[in-house]
Amino acid sequence: MSYAIVGFGRIGQALAHAFARKNIDVTVASRRPPEALEPQARAIGPTVVAKSLREALEADTILLAVPFGEHREVAKVLPSWEGKTIIDATNAFPVPEELGGLPSSAFVAKAFTGAQLVKGFNHLGAATLATDPVVAGGHRVVFLSGEDEDATARVEALAKQLGFAPVKLGKLDEGGALVHARGRVWGPLIFQDLFKKEP
Ligand SMILES: NC(=O)c1ccc[n+]([C@@H]2O[C@H](COP(=O)([O-])OP(=O)(O)OC[C@H]3O[C@@H](n4cnc5c(N)ncnc54)[C@H](OP(=O)(O)O)[C@@H]3O)[C@@H](O)[C@H]2O)c1
Repeated sequence: MSYAIVGFGRIGQALAHAFARKNIDVTVASRRPPEALEPQARAIGPTVVAKSLREALEADTILLAVPFGEHREVAKVLPSWEGKTIIDATNAFPVPEELGGLPSSAFVAKAFTGAQLVKGFNHLGAATLATDPVVAGGHRVVFLSGEDEDATARVEALAKQLGFAPVKLGKLDEGGALVHARGRVWGPLIFQDLFKKEP
């Protein structure tokens, strides 16, 4: 598996710390050129490498950490997303009317035609997500939801590799509703910093 983090702000850097902690290679990208991101990538760890957006999107698994409205711009970069897994860490808040009642990640999935999308790593504040998930005698919980069980299982394996305790919630409009916002109200699992004794 190859990994890229698109969006290298608060959440993108928090995720990069998780990869660096476990010495897992990950490329990072944003709209800025790689030279602009490289010092921060290097500061996080040697396995974190800045690339151009297009090069980063060669990875088979892409963690999306851009402002919600920007997902469309990222989606436009590739003509097809066939074979890719998108891990959607974005939140839409307050929920824009254009979603027409869809969970925000289902709306994002429509833009990435052909990809498998799993929502995850979106429920914690960036400062919390950036810290070692192995604490308090347990592993920090991340919630995963998505339509495709195989893709969710792949992201579950990655989350475990990173030291988190993944909890699968089911499909986006089922258990996944717990980690989405509705209108101006966050889902009940958003910001819940939970730990499991065994991942
Ligand atoms: N902050 C939190 O605590 C938190 C918690 C949970 C979830 N989230 C969600 O995570 C996402 C990112 O939030 P954040 O706080 O990390 O935001 P942020 O600090 O503003 O970072 C956003 C990043 O996205 C990049 N970006 C923007 N448009 C882009 C595009 N079209 N293509 C490629 N890169 C683009 C920006 O870099 P350039 O300007 O260089 O392109 C920047 O690196 C949001 O959807 C947010 O709702 C945030």
